[in-house]
Amino acid sequence: MTTTTTAQRPQKRPAVYSVRQELPHNRPYDLYYAEKVPLLQVFEKAVLAWDNRSRSGILRNLVRSVGVGKPMQAAECGVYRGHSLVACLRIARDLRVPVNFIGLDSFAGLPSLVEEDLKVAPENAPYRNKVLFDDTSFEAVNELVTSAGFADRAKLIRGFFVDTLPTLPETRYDFVNIDCDLYAPHIECLEYFYPKMNAGGIIFFDDYHSRDFPMAKSAIDKFLEDKPETLLHLRFGPEGTNHTKCYIEKL
Ligand SMILES: C[S@@+](CC[C@H](N)C(=O)[O-])C[C@H]1O[C@@H](n2cnc3c(N)ncnc32)[C@H](O)[C@@H]1O
Repeated sequence: MTTTTTAQRPQKRPAVYSVRQELPHNRPYDLYYAEKVPLLQVFEKAVLAWDNRSRSGILRNLVRSVGVGKPMQAAECGVYRGHSLVACLRIARDLRVPVNFIGLDSFAGLPSLVEEDLKVAPENAPYRNKVLFDDTSFEAVNELVTSAGFADRAKLIRGFFVDTLPTLPETRYDFVNIDCDLYAPHIECLEYFYPKMNAGGIIFFDDYHSRDFPMAKSAIDKFLEDKPETLLHLRFGPEGTNHTKCYIEKL
């Protein structure tokens, strides 16, 4: 008898994606989504920590009951189809914490590889010969975000980080998800966001342990070598190509 488990990936990716195919963020988390669970847990931790830092007890309860007030600032570097962005927005909404989320992506796939990528990329890595993650669009992700009810909470910024980061308004951040695979984008995002993090704010790294993108580790290690923060590691589900994630809390 053949049994199917929730841990098995569907064989074919649907051509059209919708709000119904987003990651679930309610616990218990489904094993199929193991790779995303640490992000959702760490984002929840960042939201609660922000809420504690920003408000006294009475004010917190009052503001939470109506879900308004000064927003938490968050960013995602590498949005792709918007699923992790919307899942995080839902967590903040469930916790009644107002958030301003900036979602940065080329919406045209990964940029060209640099020498540091070519040095460590597996010989058979598909991205050596073709652009990955170009099967998305700004318009489709904007529609996903809007139909999930987050048009006023999330702003998508289209373009390569090297061009878009310098155009962002000057502000401080409480949470940043860096999910951009390659060496140079990691360095660009870290150089931009690290000095702008509030104390206690979290930078989450999706690809530090990725076997497919080992250049993420090279970039993060290089950037953090003279910084005081410690990388914290978190795995959900079975050992996988990218089930262990890490993050730092800004000192
Ligand atoms: C793995 S996908 C992100 C997945 C998404 N966070 C999720 O969990 O659903 C990586 C994304 O990073 C984007 N990216 C990588 N380097 C970039 C750069 N320098 N500028 C803009 N986007 C970049 C790619 O376009 C791609 O959509």
